Amino acid sequence: SSHCVLNNGYSQEKYTFKDTDGKHINAHGGGILFHKGTYYWYGEIKEGESYSMPSGSRRVDAGGVSCYSSKDLKNWKNEGVVLAANTTDPNHDLHISKVIERPKVVYNKKTKKYVMWMHVDSEDYSYARSAVAVSDKATGPFTYIESVRPNGYIARDMTLFVDDDGKAYHFFSSEDNKTMHIALLSDDYLKHTTTYKRIFIEKSREAPAVFKYKKRYYIVTSGLTGWHQNEANYGSSDEILGDWTNYGNPCKGKDAHIPYYGQGTFVIPVNAKKNKFIFMADKWNERDLKSSTYLW
Ligand code: DGJ
Repeated sequence: SSHCVLNNGYSQEKYTFKDTDGKHINAHGGGILFHKGTYYWYGEIKEGESYSMPSGSRRVDAGGVSCYSSKDLKNWKNEGVVLAANTTDPNHDLHISKVIERPKVVYNKKTKKYVMWMHVDSEDYSYARSAVAVSDKATGPFTYIESVRPNGYIARDMTLFVDDDGKAYHFFSSEDNKTMHIALLSDDYLKHTTTYKRIFIEKSREAPAVFKYKKRYYIVTSGLTGWHQNEANYGSSDEILGDWTNYGNPCKGKDAHIPYYGQGTFVIPVNAKKNKFIFMADKWNERDLKSSTYLW
């Protein structure tokens, strides 16, 4: 589809994903929940001016989390802000001066709650925590609970994966982004258990996207270069908390070394049994982060 058209860098407006109001979809670093026949796309709201930090890195004020819904993965209805940024309390985890990235939502069958985990950080990325929010409805509003350092470890880029047995796992870049952790969540998905596995030790991987195919687990990650593209890597394992093997770059063809100007964020199991998956990536535009687009 036209959504898949590749471009050469920053003149991306032409290829933006639009919602049913014709507006640029504002759901970066996103993920998809498929529930009762509807796809829900959650992501970072990036609005307002981009500006440089003393370190030289670029940011926008934290904008909270958006949700879009769709029956066909093509027509997306804006469901609005499902978790708002805080504008009044600079000490709040979700204050606009902070960082709110890579939100992912899963549904808990036992509690019938929608659980969101996300990366929250200070603007210099030293806070490095995972935060959790909960809602009775897929379209929110989500109630913020808290941020944590899972089992005492720092946590940045992340994703969630729910296995067929209902167990949920939190994948996150830890240990100064050098090593990835996979932590088993509690039955209600609101806490970390003490069960976790360190993978890709000292390999510096981020932007994890996880899926399962024929009883095997797969992960796509990026390297660590801020908003700049770098080569992706994919790995797999027979056991989710097992020893994951990395196989190298899954991309082929032109611009495969920079995922066609994208950085992964999620893999949608459209029909996993029939080997149908969609890889979702962000095409970051660090000069103007709000105009970052997407690549599937
Ligand atoms: C790379 C991460 O994957 C993004 O989510 C974001 O944190 C940028 N770094 C910030 O530079």
